[in-house]
Parts: sequence; structure tokens; C-alpha cells
Amino acid sequence: MALKVALLGCGVVGSQVIRLMREQADDLAARVGAPLELAGVAVRRPGRRRDTEVDPALLTTDAEALVTRDDVDIVVEVIGGIEPARSLILSAMRGGKSVVTANKALLAEDGATIHAAARDNDADLYFEAAVAGAIPLIRPLRESLAGDHVHRVLGIVNGTTNYILDKMDSSGASFSDALEEAQVLGYAEADPTADVEGFDAAAKAAILAGIAFHSRVTAADVHREGITEVTAADVAGAKAMGYVIKLLAICARSEDGASFGVRVHPAMIPRTHPLAGVREAYNAVFVEARSAGRLMFYGAGAGGAPTASAVLGDIVAVGRNLLAGTRGPEESTYADLSVHPMGETVTRYHVSLDVADKPGVLARVADMFAKHDVSIQTVHQEGYGDEAQLVLVTHRASDAALSATIEGLRELDIVRDVVSVMRVEGEDVA
Ligand SMILES: NC(=O)c1ccc[n+]([C@@H]2O[C@H](COP(=O)([O-])OP(=O)(O)OC[C@H]3O[C@@H](n4cnc5c(N)ncnc54)[C@H](OP(=O)(O)O)[C@@H]3O)[C@@H](O)[C@H]2O)c1
Repeated sequence: MALKVALLGCGVVGSQVIRLMREQADDLAARVGAPLELAGVAVRRPGRRRDTEVDPALLTTDAEALVTRDDVDIVVEVIGGIEPARSLILSAMRGGKSVVTANKALLAEDGATIHAAARDNDADLYFEAAVAGAIPLIRPLRESLAGDHVHRVLGIVNGTTNYILDKMDSSGASFSDALEEAQVLGYAEADPTADVEGFDAAAKAAILAGIAFHSRVTAADVHREGITEVTAADVAGAKAMGYVIKLLAICARSEDGASFGVRVHPAMIPRTHPLAGVREAYNAVFVEARSAGRLMFYGAGAGGAPTASAVLGDIVAVGRNLLAGTRGPEESTYADLSVHPMGETVTRYHVSLDVADKPGVLARVADMFAKHDVSIQTVHQEGYGDEAQLVLVTHRASDAALSATIEGLRELDIVRDVVSVMRVEGEDVA
């Protein structure tokens, strides 16, 4: 007997799920052990042109009625956003249906409710497509690494910002020109806020940290900075020193392992780091585990067909579980570690200052770093008339100490401007 699939949403991802279910029907049936049949497709505007052929009889605007139909076995949610996606998923689960979703925003905001509903109703919840599109990452973290101890997850999880920063690096373009090009090519939306301000990456970081550290994490726990302040001069300065600027999502345990930090911000990484070679709109995630060592996952982080590939993989997994009368892994939050504040994050910093070019300036700047216990690794000075630019790179220091140093520097009469402050990451790997 066929397993019936209700699809919520038929946009970029949903239309490709339908195409692949049709084109690969025989293979999917053989892999699951039963044919997969589309029970219905919920959309907002039924008359809209679709990227694939859809039987008009399957289209409905009544998503609630579709997810509660008795003959539906699996609900696939690719609408996105919080509501009505959350209510529809909860209705489906209350009816004992298993759910596949690509919805990072919902899982990062209210994953606890969704996971609890899955557990209480004996339903499966799979969400491989919610983080890094086609790249298998959730299943490796949840299942393949379940016997290991993950220290750190560090990656590029937003293709739009990687495209923009890569263009700035390769062509010297400004942020706004690179953004405009990304919009023309379809890599960035007309309203790019979710990407360029780091919201999208922060949602993914929350999901990854929760799984990696067996704790509950929401988007509100993530320290978030976007890339709108990154200038062409920052990118050129990094390049001259052998670095590249990337928007990174970093989930890392503290040294004593008792807590962890989750952050998204632009950072300089050495050009020899494996993530430095991740160009254009690609994604890559580096996972460091006690026994497995360093692992890297790379590929297309978005797009209709790549994301649909991850959704289909989940549908096959859920289908197999249903036929075997079993369930996939539940949410694992037993470790219940706390998220430490950003001020406790320890890393290195690249600081660029415009200062007056006169004797004693370097000593006063160095004193301010020393006063806050931030030790300087290198200083580079370039003078222009009565002004000079000082570029300092620190040893490892806490974010709180660095912030206090910057505040102090701003108050010095010899510091005309704090031009940029950028974290330096990944040197232990490069
Ligand atoms: N696009 C990607 O590359 C990508 C990658 C990874 C994850 N995701 C995730 O996948 C999900 C879907 O993204 P997408 O890009 O496919 O979105 P999309 O192109 O905007 O499609 C959304 C679909 O949901 C339908 N919809 C909206 N509100 C609805 C409602 N109230 N009831 C029923 N249907 C409704 C829309 O109907 P109409 O077509 O009639 O308007 C549309 O078909 C999101 O969670 C997103 O974060 C997307």
C-alpha cells in the first residue's frame, strides 16, 4: 500500500519535491519499501504558475484540512516562517502524522514545542533541509556522531553573504555593489535583511548548537552581527595580511566544557583555512569532535533541487520508519548546558585605528591594551602627513576585555577613529 504525503507549500523547494517524487517514483518506492503518493498540495494562490507540473486536483488552500486527513501518513512543511507553519505541524502531529520540514526559523524560535509534540504523539520529526540545504549535516550530527563528543562546529551557513563577501574579496567591490550583483543574479532577495544581518545564519547556528551539545538553544541565545559594516578597505586589509573575511557561525564549548557559546559574525580566517576556499554561494561546515577529529561538510546550501534532495532523504527515512513500526531519533537535550555570554568568548582580534602621527602615540595605545589585559601580537603603522593608521593583531583575549579596550581607545585624544574591529578565527586549523 502506498504511503501518502501531504505537501504544504509549492514554491522554490516544494515544486522540486513534487518533480523529484514524480521522476524518481520507482527508485523511491524500492528504497522505502512502498510507493510514495502525493495526497495534496497546500498553497496560498492556487492559480499561480508553478516550476513543475502539478495536478490541479491536488491543490488546496485549506492546509488544515489536508494535514488532518485520515489517509495522510507524512506531512512535508515547506511554507516557511512561524505561522501558519507551526499550527499546521502541531495539528499533523496531534493526528499521529510524521513531519518533514525545512523550516529553520520555526525550529530556532520554538523547536521545543515542535519536538515535544513529536515525542508526545509518537511522530517522527526530520529537518535535514533546515540547515545548509543539500549538505547532510543534521543526520551526521544526530546519528553518525552520537558516539562522539563534539567540541566545535564552525561554518559558512549562508550562501548569500558568502557570495557577497567573495565578490568583495575577488573584485574589490563595495558591500552595496556586491549586494546589488547578488540580487540581480537571484542569490539575494529584494529585502536582504534576513541574510545580510545574520538572522538566517543565527537560526541555523541555534539548531546546530542544540544538536551538537545536546542542549536546548534558540535564536535568541545567538550573538549576531551581520556583514553590512564590512567595507572594501576591511576586505583589502585582510587580503594584504593573508586573510579572507567570511560570515561564520561558530558553536564552541568553553574550555572546561561546562557551557558553550553560539555566535554569528564576520571574521578573518587565514587563506590557508579549508573554509577560505568556499567560494560564491556555497556553504561548508567544519565539525571538530574528540575521537573523529576534524570533519568538513561542503556543498550547495540552498536552491530548489539541492534542498529538495535533503527533503526527499527525510521522506524516505520517515517512510522506512513507518513501515518498520519504529521512529527516528528524538530531540536530545539531556546535557542541558548553558549558553555563556559573548563577553566570555575568547578569540583574537584585528584592530585598525586612525591616530595622530606624533611621538608617544604607540605607547599610549599599547598601554590601553595592557590595562585591559589584552596582549598585542603584531603592530603595523603607516603614516600619512599628521595622521597615521595603526593595525594591531592581539593574542587570545575575552570579548569583554577587547570591548573595554576599544571603549578606552575611543576616549584617547590621539585616537581619531576606530576604523574596524574584526575577530580572527581558525588559525589553529590553517
Ligand atoms: N529556497 C531555498 O533555497 C531554501 C533552502 C533551505 C531551506 N529553505 C526553507 O524551505 C522553506 C520553503 O522555502 P521556499 O524558498 O520554497 O519558499 P517559497 O518559494 O516562498 O514558497 C512558499 C510556499 O508556501 C506557500 N504558502 C505560503 N503561505 C501559505 C499558507 N498560509 N498556506 C498554504 N501555503 C502557503 C506558497 O504558496 P503560493 O505559491 O501559492 O504563494 C508557496 O508555494 C522555508 O522554510 C525555507 O527557509 C529554503
